[in-house]
This record gives sequence, structure tokens and C-alpha cells, in this order.
Amino acid sequence: MKKPIDMDTLLVQLDRLKLTAIRDQLDTLLDEAARSKMTLREALSFLVTREIARRDERRISMSSKLAQFPFVRELDSFDFEAQPSLDPGQLRDLATCRWIAHGDAVLFLGPPGTGKTHLAVALGREAIRQNYSVQFVTAATLVAMLAKAHADGALDKQLTILSRPKLLIIDELGYLPFEANAAHLFFQLVSRRYEKGAMLLTSNRSVGEWGSVFGDPVVATAILDRLLHHSTVITIRGDSYRLREKRRSGLLQKAGSTLETNSTATQ
Ligand SMILES: Nc1ncnc2c1ncn2[C@@H]1O[C@H](COP(=O)(O)OP(=O)(O)O)[C@@H](O)[C@H]1O
Ligand SMILES: [Mg+2]
Repeated sequence: MKKPIDMDTLLVQLDRLKLTAIRDQLDTLLDEAARSKMTLREALSFLVTREIARRDERRISMSSKLAQFPFVRELDSFDFEAQPSLDPGQLRDLATCRWIAHGDAVLFLGPPGTGKTHLAVALGREAIRQNYSVQFVTAATLVAMLAKAHADGALDKQLTILSRPKLLIIDELGYLPFEANAAHLFFQLVSRRYEKGAMLLTSNRSVGEWGSVFGDPVVATAILDRLLHHSTVITIRGDSYRLREKRRSGLLQKAGSTLETNSTATQ
């Protein structure tokens, strides 16, 4: 005669194997398997699928926290009709993350409120789903980190840390002009990651204005030379999405775009 299964022992065994999703929901899962009249194979696959789903969920949530996104946004919630200057197919292509595997760069250029950070976060979250490490940082924070490390004689260490994530997202380049030496520090980061780690940059300035953003046209050219070598440049035109509702209700006049038009893609 078969010995009845001691559920406590089973729970300890599941714990030992770190099958925590199965352990936590054992009764519910087994009831469901019985109710659906699953074969043993189906039941095993059902349990394992649940365990994997929980692990993926945990990994994504942990990696998203580590990435330090400013908010949660997805490509699905992006209203492409409100932003006709964007090609949804091109964004879907970027969401495959092939460019990340190749260590390429993506630049989103456009006036404030046009969805640059939204798209950057959405692509960053997609990258995490596909198991790439991601770090999000604003240009101002990044430059402050590099300047501090430089002053402390720890620049090399900081550059190594910033070279680790497979995708580095640098948001809001150009909102603040760089201080002296910052352009050079930024150049060192770009050189370190060049052709190794992917970068996604957002800026409210067109590439032609980067000389004044960096305060040094020679360094700006050297930075752009590397960034644009294997890159996709997406220029978003149009008005702020944030102000759209207000404008609709007549609170605001239609504002003109301040960003110069630019090429939409280079390869
Ligand atoms: N086309 C859009 N569809 C849906 N939400 C959008 C769109 N464009 C912008 N938003 C939302 O408007 C706000 C501002 O967008 P954001 O990405 O921060 O703009 P930017 O970084 O270009 O200044 C965010 O909450 C973002 O989710
Ligand atoms: Mg932004």
C-alpha cells in the first residue's frame, strides 16, 4: 500500500528546491489541476510554468527598481495617433532589443513633453524583460557623478561601474549646459561604452546644437562621432502631450515647436 504523502515534508522539500511559488500556492494549484482533470504531465507543466512566471515577475520588478526609472511606462500605453511624427513600426523594431545586443545607440530628440522619457522607460523595461541589465540616469546626475568621482580620484572606477549595464539610458541631455570639464568626462564615458554597451539618450536639442550643450564643439564632435556611428536617431516633432488636454480645453494657445527639424534615422 502507498504511504500517504506528508504535506509538511512536501512543503519542506519544495522550500529546499526554492520552488516558492508552488510551495505558497500548493493547495490552490493542486485543486485547480484536479478540477481541470489534468494528466500528470499537464499538471507538472502547469506547476513549473507558474514557478517560472513568478521568478520572471520578481526578476523584472527587482531589475526595474535597480534601473531607477523615474516612472513606469510601456510602449502599449503610448498614443501613436497623438504623435504622428513617430513610426510605430520603428519603435516595435527597437522593442526587439537587437540594437542592445549589438551595443548600438538610440537618440530621441524633441521638445519637452513629447514622450521621450516615456519611450526611453518603455524600451528600458522591454530590455529588462529580455534579461538585459539597464540603468537610467539623467544627464545632470550623470555629470555630477562623474565630476565627483574625478575630484575623488575615482573616475576610472566610476566609468567601470557605468559600463556594466548592457543599456545605459541618459535622459534630458541639454536641459542644463555642461560645466567646464563635464564634456570631457562625458566623452570618456561614451568612449568606454562605445561598441560594447548600448546607450539611449534623450535631448530637447537637435544634434546640431550639441556643441553649445557641451560647451566645446571639438569634444561634442568626438562624442557625436561615436554615438552616431551605429545609431538610430528619432526626432519627435509636435506639441507637448502634457499640455494637450489643457490646450484642448482652450486654456492654452497652440505653442510652436522650438526644435529644428532633423533627419529621422541614420544607420
Ligand atoms: N504620445 C503619448 N501617449 C501617451 N502618453 C504620452 C505621450 N507623450 C507623452 N506622454 C505622457 O506625457 C508625459 C510627458 O511625457 P515625457 O515622456 O515625460 O516627455 P519628454 O520626456 O519628451 O519631456 C508622460 O507622463 C508621458 O507618459
Ligand atoms: Mg523627459
